[in-house]
Amino acid sequence: MKDLRMPLFAIFIFCIAVCSSAQNPSSKPTFEVGKKTFLLNGQPFVIKAAEIHYPRIPDAYWEQRIEMCKSLGMNTLCLYVFWNLHEERPDEFDFSGNKDIARFCRLAQKHGMYVIVRPGPYVCAEWEMGGLPWWLLKKKDIQLRTLDTYYMERVRKFMKEVGKQLAALQITRGGNIIMVQVENEYGSYGTNKPYVTAIRDIVRESGFTEVPLFQCDWSSNFLNNALDDLLWTVNFGTGANIEDQFKKLKELRPDIPLMCSEFWSGWFDHWGRKHETRDGATMVAGLKDMLDQNISFSLYMAHGGTTFGHWGGANNPAYSAMCSSYDYDAPISEAGWTTEKFWSLRELLSHYLAPDEKLSDVPPAYPVIEIPEIKFEKAAPLFDNLPASKKSVDIQPMELFDQGWGSILYRTTLPKVKAETILTITELHDWAQVFVDGKLIGRLDRRHGENKVVLPALKTAGARLDILVEAMGRVNFDKSIHDRKGITEKVELLSGGNAVSLKNWTVFNLPDDYKFVQDKKYTAKGKQTMPAYYRATFNLRETGDVFLDMQTWGKGLVWVNGHAMGRFWEIGPQQTLYMPGCWLKKGENEIIVLDLKRPQQAVIKGLKKPILDMLREKAPETHRKEGQKLNLQNETSAVQGSFALQNGWQEVKFGKETKGRYFCIEGLSAHDGSNVAAIAELLVLGINGQPLPHEGWKILYADSEETRSGNHTADKIYDLQESTFWSTVDNTSYPHQIVIDLGKESIVSGFRYLPRAEKECPGMIKDYKAYMKTEAFSY
Ligand code: GLA
Ligand code: CA
Repeated sequence: MKDLRMPLFAIFIFCIAVCSSAQNPSSKPTFEVGKKTFLLNGQPFVIKAAEIHYPRIPDAYWEQRIEMCKSLGMNTLCLYVFWNLHEERPDEFDFSGNKDIARFCRLAQKHGMYVIVRPGPYVCAEWEMGGLPWWLLKKKDIQLRTLDTYYMERVRKFMKEVGKQLAALQITRGGNIIMVQVENEYGSYGTNKPYVTAIRDIVRESGFTEVPLFQCDWSSNFLNNALDDLLWTVNFGTGANIEDQFKKLKELRPDIPLMCSEFWSGWFDHWGRKHETRDGATMVAGLKDMLDQNISFSLYMAHGGTTFGHWGGANNPAYSAMCSSYDYDAPISEAGWTTEKFWSLRELLSHYLAPDEKLSDVPPAYPVIEIPEIKFEKAAPLFDNLPASKKSVDIQPMELFDQGWGSILYRTTLPKVKAETILTITELHDWAQVFVDGKLIGRLDRRHGENKVVLPALKTAGARLDILVEAMGRVNFDKSIHDRKGITEKVELLSGGNAVSLKNWTVFNLPDDYKFVQDKKYTAKGKQTMPAYYRATFNLRETGDVFLDMQTWGKGLVWVNGHAMGRFWEIGPQQTLYMPGCWLKKGENEIIVLDLKRPQQAVIKGLKKPILDMLREKAPETHRKEGQKLNLQNETSAVQGSFALQNGWQEVKFGKETKGRYFCIEGLSAHDGSNVAAIAELLVLGINGQPLPHEGWKILYADSEETRSGNHTADKIYDLQESTFWSTVDNTSYPHQIVIDLGKESIVSGFRYLPRAEKECPGMIKDYKAYMKTEAFSY
């Protein structure tokens, strides 16, 4: 069949051009998709966009950050609109203060910057639930990001509000908005053109009719949901093979302007994992490569900023929540400072200015102060300050008790309990402490799949069971965005093969808003051994930016003068919280800390520099135990062969479908003759070649993992991110193996391998074998 995509798109370009010129005497500004180029007022234009996020910057600092982006040599700002920030409760819309997106755009315009708006409704962005409001999850069977009636009804309402704020700022109406995005990387979620079509229509109905609409995806999956009348752009990171990234797109639409709508300058940090960085010279080289071909780009992030309060998201599997700092190793640091990357990028961009353009001066950074040790003399133990409770026969997630964020306490009485009785929680989201009669029995961490504690023998019935669950960020990527918090299903006692489900719960909602935490009886003295709120005041003669040193604290949240600053967790890698000076006062300031564990010392100092890379988690970084070696001698491979040397996915079929739970891929040699093996993503295929779900996967073994220069552990092969990868260290020779526990027995028909996205695919495996077994491998 003839491909209709091109002609339809040509008509679309034509329509935009005609519509805008028809309504429009020549003086009216326009932005259009032209032949192989964007057209700004009819003239060829390369978009050099800096992505920054308004809620990740205090509004008092917006202008300085915009000027910083301008002084990098950028001409555009790219921003998401975060639905859950603007509609914390259904129908209560808020676009004021730090949420005033129209003001943000006007400030950009004041500095001669254009704006690309990405209103979602889903945005990803390492943001709580990818920007979707938690209250959607009150509907038990909701299917997010589909044509689910309730979901779509809410999307429509939200987008209409965005339209009211921003439609008047389209360039044709005297504003600076030049493009609007439809959904976000939908190809990484599913295949559903009717849904993407409906979102496109809603965006238009909301008033975005005068600038081009586009959809962004990965080069590997953009065709799954590509609509004929939208512009297609691709996202990829520092180091990627740029020619290869645009190859398919160029074939299908040879006449469109090319754009990398997210070029990842760095990467984000998770609690308990190594701090991420990306090489500055490689980033600059990639941008140069694109600029030399007039390829437009948006640098994600130019300035990451801070994910204040509870707004950080999480990835899954394995569940892992995001740090508060969103520094991102971006050219402009979390506190708005220049970095080495900043200067080399500014140097590069200085060569690509328009003829009449001059690089603007770099604005000064805000002053930095130190704060001498603040002592917390007053505390409010959490258990002595419980709010009114609710009753529920069955345990239920937090959303069904009308709570969005914070912690939740589930309380019931225990029957008589024999020794060795195990308490099991299904499912625990995300971090719990279990107490019996007020005594701590155990701590459970979803990141490690922990959901059981052994109870002590209880001779009589009636002991008090308390399960205090802290919700970390809601998952912001893939289907697990349906991430209800607290305890989602049940709590059982297991003893001698019997399971008894516990009932009749008393439930305490412990939200994390300032009003709730401030309103406590701060009467206890000094350091506590149980979860507690702490309050102190401190005086400042001068205000300035500062980094709150949380190194002596356990796990929790901080509020200063009513602003929710973010989460801290002793495991790191982040040990300080960025405290913008604009939220401090001359004279007395108030600071409140909730520590769900307990502090070593209840003190905080203000430092002049952040600590973002101090990992203190004890869990091993790699997946091979000391001295362990996989033994494949007596195993028969399910398939063997050679991979071709090329970027992109390659599929391997087993001779026949094989049942098993343990999958091993073994690299026997490398294409480049080096020692290194690398895998960016691996899918295991089930019946009919359909990829098996990743939920419940675990890496059991990897013979070698590179963690000295970068973060290349084996779990990177199923984090669903094509730009992250497993890599072996360079002084360990082939063969290399990874063993995955699929979590349950499955029928497997083959697998797909994605090599690294860089040119020549570093670490590309040549000869391989794959094994599939029902029983565990031997070591
Ligand atoms: C994707 C998403 C972004 C962000 C980046 C990683 O490209 O579209 O929102 O999550 O990944 O930082
Ligand atoms: Ca990956």
